[in-house]
Amino acid sequence: MQSTLTTISDRLEIVTVPHTARTATFGEDVAAGLGAPEKHLSSKYFYDDLGSALFEAITHLPEYYLTRAETEILHESGWEIVRALEEPVEFLELGSGSAVKTRILIDEALRAQGTLRYSPIDISADALESSARSLVDAYPQLSIRGYAADYFDVLGSPELTHERRVLAMFMGSNIGNYDPVSADALLKKMAASLRPGDGLLIGADLKKDPGVLEAAYDDPTGVTAAFDKNVLARINRELGGTFDVRAFDHVAIYDEARGVVESYLESTRAQRVRVEALGLTVAFAAGERIHTESSYKFDRDSMAQMVEAAGFALAMTWTDAAERFGVHLCIKA
Ligand code: AVJ
Repeated sequence: MQSTLTTISDRLEIVTVPHTARTATFGEDVAAGLGAPEKHLSSKYFYDDLGSALFEAITHLPEYYLTRAETEILHESGWEIVRALEEPVEFLELGSGSAVKTRILIDEALRAQGTLRYSPIDISADALESSARSLVDAYPQLSIRGYAADYFDVLGSPELTHERRVLAMFMGSNIGNYDPVSADALLKKMAASLRPGDGLLIGADLKKDPGVLEAAYDDPTGVTAAFDKNVLARINRELGGTFDVRAFDHVAIYDEARGVVESYLESTRAQRVRVEALGLTVAFAAGERIHTESSYKFDRDSMAQMVEAAGFALAMTWTDAAERFGVHLCIKA
């Protein structure tokens, strides 16, 4: 399959890059994950329309400080961040979503250099196009080449073009969802698509008190529990599942030694669940868990170690005033 280019205006084009590696479907992943001795479901399946709305609600919870802390850093230090590479830059963003926080950096870059080229990559073509349209409307000096694709596929593609020094961004603590082996592979892929001296900005939650982290991932109003349980409801909706979603509890545990919050759905009783589209019946023991998410936490040392192994130097770290969250500038060696 070929990449397709859609020119929407002289300042907005969207590239659709086809999958290179064959990726498993939701059904295949559910069958494998619920069939495994230690049951698991990938956190990437949280984000259907309802799940995306529940995540947006999470960002407003008093306990979930991550989004506010990162926004504070961009407001306080954005001017310094966009000038750190000392040249006119262009932006490349992985998983841009609605690009609300990116606007802070776009404002700063336009102040510093007058014009800006921005290449957002997002798996959701609809989200990408609507946020790109409103950005070019809001900023007359901005031009966008967006990629509607999986970022692994874009990073390896000749469609990814650069005109200036690149400041790539992987924000929102999204790196936290990758286990160390996958994070290493993704960072190496990024390093291979950048040139020496290009930057990679990583927003990542900092290691901290377990009680603070566990409250952030299991809030008292139950929004995070609903977000987690939505993956079972999604199996019911899309794959003809018979999950009694009420018979599972959301559990979040911070493993301090590994620096990771692990989220699980725990079966409150012995039960059997049928998933019609997969021809599958799954048995749960009382108290048995399904692993649904890992949210890795970093300190400056663990961040430096991870990015250096992938071919970057950790040049600078900015934190919020309460030192809960870090924005790290990595330079491709
Ligand atoms: C969107 C992956 C950064 O791990 O903090 C929020 C998702 N999970 N509450 C995170 C999430 C539970 C979030 N990320």
